[in-house]
Amino acid sequence: METTQLTSQFFDLFGHKASGVSTAPGRVNLIGEFTDYNLGYVLPCALNFSTQVAFNTRADNQIEVYSLNYPGEKDTFSADGEIVQGESQWGNYIRAVVYVLKKRGYHLGGAELLITSDVPQGAGLSSSAALEVSIAGALNKAFNLGISTRDIALIGQQSENEFMHCQCGIMDQLISAQGEQGHALKIDCDDLATESVAIPDDLSLVIVNSNYPRKLVESEYNQRRLDCEGAAEKMQVPTLRNANLALLEQTKNQLTDNEYKRAFHVLSENQRVLDTVDALSNNDMPALRDLLAASHNSLRDNFEVTVPATDGLVEIISEALDGKGAVRMTGGGFGGAVICLCRASEIDVVKAAVDAKYQAKFGLTADIFVCQAGAGLLVEDVS
Ligand code: GLA
Repeated sequence: METTQLTSQFFDLFGHKASGVSTAPGRVNLIGEFTDYNLGYVLPCALNFSTQVAFNTRADNQIEVYSLNYPGEKDTFSADGEIVQGESQWGNYIRAVVYVLKKRGYHLGGAELLITSDVPQGAGLSSSAALEVSIAGALNKAFNLGISTRDIALIGQQSENEFMHCQCGIMDQLISAQGEQGHALKIDCDDLATESVAIPDDLSLVIVNSNYPRKLVESEYNQRRLDCEGAAEKMQVPTLRNANLALLEQTKNQLTDNEYKRAFHVLSENQRVLDTVDALSNNDMPALRDLLAASHNSLRDNFEVTVPATDGLVEIISEALDGKGAVRMTGGGFGGAVICLCRASEIDVVKAAVDAKYQAKFGLTADIFVCQAGAGLLVEDVS
């Protein structure tokens, strides 16, 4: 949405001007799935879908939040005292960020916030990270907290871990805070060092949302993390970042079958991230195709986070592309979207194949988005 449109809605709602607008994007992960909380490598890019928050402070220490995505709803709570869960699910993300900021010792006063977002929800494109980062960006500016983008990302992750009870890693929040136009970021999740990796001009990012109704995502997600931690413990290393495939084979008989498979995925996926950075630099489509295919197969067989609908989309698209593109599931799994990297001339081939086959086979309609790699968090003064 245009900033002026959002600020004029803010004026209509609160009767005075917003002082700023904070904008944070959703993301798509090109490769490096479930490696972040194992302190490995990921390669996401920010998208040109984003969440925006128009904001201003107020004197009475109340935080009052509206969202244009949920007309007629609002959440109000006091910035003083204990922050607890409220009735609004989306409102809890704002409470979560305030909870973490206070826990870290920042002093907040009252605020008025108006949110709008065009990040598709439930598609695995990180609508919640975009919300956390945009809110943290808004409060950082409104109260002059002087927080870096790196810490804004860590605050978003901590909000998920401690208030929303999802044990996610740092990828989504960090790319939302630090994304770069036209680039993916290779993130080393051990020290949060980033390296920008240009997306070749003739490479299109096509995201296909399966619209599969996601269930049990959080409990399964948290269980996978426990499996990885169990594997690391039995290999006597602090995290899987300190292990390698040789050590995994040596200790195989001490691990449960699931621990072995999860660790095998993570260790091989880390190498695929490094190889994908090279393949992108060389604009090498056959290498990209093989790397994304290997990632998908490992997510299906070893990490066991795909569903027939996402496996089906990958199969339909790779068959139609016949080697001329790369495709795999992306994000937290159990539904969500697949990412396809192909030349612009192949986009219609992908669309036609999905239209012809996906609904007929799975009874679901897919949404197809052709995206650009966008920029990360931006906080502007508007008064
Ligand atoms: C979700 C989490 C991320 C990451 C991915 C899987 O998006 O929020 O931290 O673990 O799943 O790669």
